[in-house]
Amino acid sequence: MAQRTPLIAGNWKMFKTGPEAADTAGRLRSLVADIVDVDVMVAPQFAALCSVAEALKGSRIALGAQDVFWEKQGAYTGEVSAPMLKAAGCTHIIVGHSERRQYFSETNETVNKKVKAVFEEGLVPVMCIGESEAQREAGKTFSVIEEQLERGLDGVDHAGLERFILAYEPVWAIGTGKTATSDQAQEVHRFIREWVEKAAGNSIANSLRILYGGSVKPENIAGLMAMDDIDGALVGGASLDADSFAGIVRPCSAGSA
Ligand code: PGA
Repeated sequence: MAQRTPLIAGNWKMFKTGPEAADTAGRLRSLVADIVDVDVMVAPQFAALCSVAEALKGSRIALGAQDVFWEKQGAYTGEVSAPMLKAAGCTHIIVGHSERRQYFSETNETVNKKVKAVFEEGLVPVMCIGESEAQREAGKTFSVIEEQLERGLDGVDHAGLERFILAYEPVWAIGTGKTATSDQAQEVHRFIREWVEKAAGNSIANSLRILYGGSVKPENIAGLMAMDDIDGALVGGASLDADSFAGIVRPCSAGSA
């Protein structure tokens, strides 16, 4: 964690209208205004992006989207492209969230196309990977992660990985209140960093930020951040409230004690 700036990213999923999201973003902005050594990102639903962009204008908080389609434009009803999200003010795009994989037929192949589209636009992909409970119980955690990395990053220029973000989100910990222990998370984060080191070299592996996601709250963030290979968090439920979101950001700052 030492040489990497922590990133706390809020995934607001399908919650909050535009005005509600802008209100939370505005409150978060003032609550974390004094913190300059932690990066913060919020990813509201598509229809709230412009209002949140407005609420965050001039702040250090980055705007992210929760998904993207890989074509730039065309007859794809209901989809949104990377250039469109960039024009709306997004700098980050979450790709391959387990809810997309579970409910919307996202596969490693579609994740790969999306990652490439995000890179091409000069934006930062936040690629989510993680095993299900059954896969963990069957001892398949590392092979599942390896496959998600290999196929999700297939054909991606390794130099680009410098501005890449990975989020390890064990599916069994998302929205369940069951957080992985800090040691369980660290073990997988270490595995991921070693995989990146083999694929892209030591310097990229060392600068790459790997976030943990799954029931992160103000109460458990410090324990997670104490781990060598955990560089921040992708937070769902606990990011919906500005106070609780700020309560996760603050302990990641060197100024907090
Ligand atoms: P959670 O969601 O914090 O509500 O578990 C995390 C996520 O889905 O990114």
